Amino acid sequence: MTVPQSQTPGTAPETLRATLANFATGVTVITTRDPGGRPFGMTVNSFNSVSLSPPLVLWSIALSAYSLPIWRAAAGFAVNILSEDQGDLCRRFASDAEDRFAGIDWTPGLDGLPVLPGAAAVLECRFWQRHPGGDHEIMLGEVIACTQAGHVPLVYCQGRLGGLRVA
Ligand SMILES: Cc1cc2nc3c(=O)[nH]c(=O)nc-3n(C[C@H](O)[C@H](O)[C@H](O)COP(=O)(O)O)c2cc1C
Repeated sequence: MTVPQSQTPGTAPETLRATLANFATGVTVITTRDPGGRPFGMTVNSFNSVSLSPPLVLWSIALSAYSLPIWRAAAGFAVNILSEDQGDLCRRFASDAEDRFAGIDWTPGLDGLPVLPGAAAVLECRFWQRHPGGDHEIMLGEVIACTQAGHVPLVYCQGRLGGLRVA
């Protein structure tokens, strides 16, 4: 089978972003508490597994993110892996809404981290290490609890949201 190809030389940010958009990912809302104790979260698809023993996961945040100081000050974070019908939460937690949690249902998990009901799975983490990563900062967390709800996960690919059904 011949696969149509689009080749653009170089690694300009737009080219790299468009190329990486072909890598299908899940979608998470990573949550924490801000220094005032208020729930805070942002949409993240750079989430990935790292290690089983110790249990480690990672995600990365743009150095330009307004919320970077909140994450640098936080003791932990919860990874809410969104389910197929939570596309609205994906958009809400990537928006510049002043309070992304306004009108959003959540419950406190271990350490009081905000957990979003209806997520496909949740991993509650304590910060392990932070590493420089170019124009991003890589956040490593130690998983202290994980739960799965059995919902179909939300998928993000080529700038579009969809569901995934595995036979
Ligand atoms: C599907 C999707 C995935 C995203 N993944 C990331 C990510 O991994 N890291 C990141 O820094 N921003 C990511 N973003 C962008 C942030 O959610 C968005 O910039 C957010 O508004 C940042 O908030 P802040 O500037 O208020 O901190 C993603 C957005 C979307 C829609």
